[in-house]
Amino acid sequence: MEPLDRRSFIVSAGAAGAALAAGSPAGAAQTSGAVFISTWKWGIPANARAAEVLGAGGSLLDAVEKGINAIEDDPNVDTVGYGGLPNAQGEVELDAGVMNGTTHRAGSVCNLHKIKNPISVARLVMEKTRHTTMAGEGALQFAIAMGFEPMQLLTPKSLEAWLKWKNTPNHQTFWIDKDHHDTIGMLATDGNGHVVAGCSTSGLAWKIPGRVADSPLVGCGYYADDSAGAACATGNGDVMTNYCSSAYIVARMAEGAHPQEACDQLMRFMAKTAPDVTRGQYCVVALSAGGETGAASMNAAQPLQYALWRAGRGSLQTAPAYLR
Ligand code: GLY
Repeated sequence: MEPLDRRSFIVSAGAAGAALAAGSPAGAAQTSGAVFISTWKWGIPANARAAEVLGAGGSLLDAVEKGINAIEDDPNVDTVGYGGLPNAQGEVELDAGVMNGTTHRAGSVCNLHKIKNPISVARLVMEKTRHTTMAGEGALQFAIAMGFEPMQLLTPKSLEAWLKWKNTPNHQTFWIDKDHHDTIGMLATDGNGHVVAGCSTSGLAWKIPGRVADSPLVGCGYYADDSAGAACATGNGDVMTNYCSSAYIVARMAEGAHPQEACDQLMRFMAKTAPDVTRGQYCVVALSAGGETGAASMNAAQPLQYALWRAGRGSLQTAPAYLR
């Protein structure tokens, strides 16, 4: 991750939130107890957009969906949505999932091609069908039936990156392993005990076509339950899947653990049972239904930055690392 001017983000995001609250008394009431926590530096604009949607009277689900859409639409984020790096065959394959902590319903799509907002399609799977997860061609046909327009998701930049990888002699492939994956995961509460979790990714760059990892799998990439809280995973999704990371954390919170302790417990368990986690990204964020937050990464050398929005103020934070 690139270093980031933390103070400038605090100032600009804080000012945007304050202006929003000042300009809209109804919005201020709507967002006064709200908390948003999102992964990586693009969590700052994602949270700001989510707060704006909630402040304008949208639901918490609307806020999470639109907040994530802002990153899916950004061609400069090369691990999410439009401009996300493609699979080994040069095709952008998107994964996303969303969960409503009140209804305990989730929706997700995986290996979705040609549609830049998979989180919106995932929400429609949750709301318009009796299914939870749709994949590949079926997910694409569902999206088209729901009114989404297929488009080319490769940008000149991502095409160039793929060609460079492909034309590098002996390039690494995921039959071996190499990391390039950074999900946008967002957790939200309205301040009244309701939680929502969502995440969206293009997954690992140059992945084997058809690969599915944590992000679209309920309980792995995301999980939300109003009786406890919500959690999201980011980093090496193949490994995070093996730990049902998000459900694991929410289960610890349901037993009474603080979100930070719940994240730490997962890291402890992973470090004990997966000896090869001493390098690579294995990261989580958590939010209790009462608005307390937690975050953790496994390795200090590969830290997790996450964005926190609370009381009209946004900031970029670094999660504590389990292995230093
Ligand atoms: N965590 C995103 C992925 O590995 O696909």
